[in-house]
Amino acid sequence: MTGTFHNTQTIGEIVAILPEAADIFNRHRIDFCCGGARQLSTAIREQNLNEAEILNELENAFEKSRKTPGSAASFIEMEPDSLVRHILNTHHVYTKRVLPEIEELLIKIMNVHGERHPELFRVQKLFSALKADLEQHLQKEERVLFPMMEAYRNDPAQEVGARIRSAINVMENEHTGAGDILKELREVTEDYQVPEDGCGSYSLAYAKIKELESDLFQHIHLENNILFKKWV
Ligand SMILES: [Fe+2]
Ligand SMILES: [Fe+2]
Repeated sequence: MTGTFHNTQTIGEIVAILPEAADIFNRHRIDFCCGGARQLSTAIREQNLNEAEILNELENAFEKSRKTPGSAASFIEMEPDSLVRHILNTHHVYTKRVLPEIEELLIKIMNVHGERHPELFRVQKLFSALKADLEQHLQKEERVLFPMMEAYRNDPAQEVGARIRSAINVMENEHTGAGDILKELREVTEDYQVPEDGCGSYSLAYAKIKELESDLFQHIHLENNILFKKWV
């Protein structure tokens, strides 16, 4: 399969989809930890690398990984109903749990540190938009899209297929919207750098947003690149 990776994806997104990409990036001295928010094209330019070669290496590693049971890429071999169950039990449960936790932490640090770090007001505003968007988005998938997919498997009616495709379009746009907010959060927080006078809650809030970001990349990858592709 070709075309899983492209040069506008960030290094972090690629490692979330294919953890083995970390070895490839290491080998080419592409920083995937602190520099994870950069687009692949930027990293390739900085290191003076050959884009086609790197993309080829990534695609080959992905092919190998998807044939390995239990690997991140092996989800591609899953039946759609098992994949939906996996998405619900891991990513949806996790997201619904951490969103209010992070919001509470952000309000707390905003009250304590907001005066000296006014960017926290922007962080809190962006995060609350992300939370509202994601909570609605998860509900749409759980109440509308996934049940429609289930119904279609039992009775593949043409009009249900068309409704599924149009719902998928909406979901994909919402994924892009969430990704945009996360990119803005990275910019405002300078890659989640905790200031020297930041307390434990400050570090915890930023660590939790980073963890949510990487979980969301994997979650969106499973939906956009694997589950939804079965209805194209
Ligand atoms: Fe989802
Ligand atoms: Fe989704």
